[in-house]
Amino acid sequence: MMKVAFFDAKEYDVSSFNQVEDKGSLTFQFFETKLNENTVELAKGFDAICVFVNDTVNAAVIDKLVEYGCKVIALRCAGFNNVDVQHAYKKIHIVRVPAYSPYAVAEHAMAMILTSIRRIHKAFNRTRDFNFSLSGLVGFDLHGKTVGVVGTGKIGRIFIDICKGFGMNVLAYDKFPVPNSDIKYVELDELYAKSDIISLHCPLTPETKHLINKDTLKKMKDHVVLVNTSRGALINAVDLVEALKSRKVGVACLDVYEEEGDLFFRDYSNHILDDDVLARLLSMPNVLVTSHQAFLTNEALGNIAQTTTNNLKTYLAGNYITENEVCYQCGLADQCKKKRKERCF
Ligand code: NAI
Repeated sequence: MMKVAFFDAKEYDVSSFNQVEDKGSLTFQFFETKLNENTVELAKGFDAICVFVNDTVNAAVIDKLVEYGCKVIALRCAGFNNVDVQHAYKKIHIVRVPAYSPYAVAEHAMAMILTSIRRIHKAFNRTRDFNFSLSGLVGFDLHGKTVGVVGTGKIGRIFIDICKGFGMNVLAYDKFPVPNSDIKYVELDELYAKSDIISLHCPLTPETKHLINKDTLKKMKDHVVLVNTSRGALINAVDLVEALKSRKVGVACLDVYEEEGDLFFRDYSNHILDDDVLARLLSMPNVLVTSHQAFLTNEALGNIAQTTTNNLKTYLAGNYITENEVCYQCGLADQCKKKRKERCF
């Protein structure tokens, strides 16, 4: 028997995880609260915890989990920038869901672009109010425009295919370009200078934090469309507000936001928003914000639940943790044990 405590659990998590048919000897308990230093005590008596993007798994939380006898942190997401992986090394195992539906995220990025540049969100509200005026709804064709894609991993590559379907020219930048592909890679400065639309699909790392800032914004075309479905901190939101005010950025499509942790996934409709930067962004007609929902399709939720369950069952069976374990040595040429099909530690 392995008891698993879920943090930041939503009704769709409960539903998708309860629908997994072969749970083996796993039992699930769902907590709505996010994991952090104040709530970690809920993990007492559990063998594993399951967390999402806005749970805090820092050194203090990890130490408590280890003290409580917790053996595994199962991320039900791909990104693990919210986990102190270095501190967890040799203390507690971390597993994740490396891919659940790259299509969901890539399609959402395109949905945001189409919605914003064709003013669908405005038209939706207008026609419901019997306002059939077209004033202010002029958009532009995607066909023939240049899109710059930063990060050509699973999601970035699908997004590129979608853009090609629209007849767009695609430029890409990746720190580790895909070898022998038909992707046209350029340096970041060229991508910034030539793109009408820039879409971010790289992970958040110390290197990519505030990749989009006042200096890089200056290198972009006037009225550029910026799309971020990756991680909020890729963009310096204060600098983005200034660039929107000066019309440097024509449209911003944001599924993620640097300070989303305390806001996204919750209903604050009866509250006054404390975050002035987000409030300013939301006040602009050319900014479209969704609250980290790019992944949210039935297909993705099913895959997340199945892979997370399999990750935990694999651990329980005493097997190697599989490809889905993340550790401090991941990818390091000599140290990575996973590459040698050995348990990380
Ligand atoms: P992936 O790991 O397949 O691809 C990431 C790509 O970024 C790789 O090709 C990598 O070489 C590249 N990269 C790494 N460092 C870079 C740098 N400094 N500059 C440029 N490129 C760099 O990841 P995947 O599945 O395509 O996901 C991309 C991101 O999307 C994730 O990191 C995650 O933050 C975000 N995401 C957002 C979701 C949402 O619901 N909004 C859901 C799932 C993922």
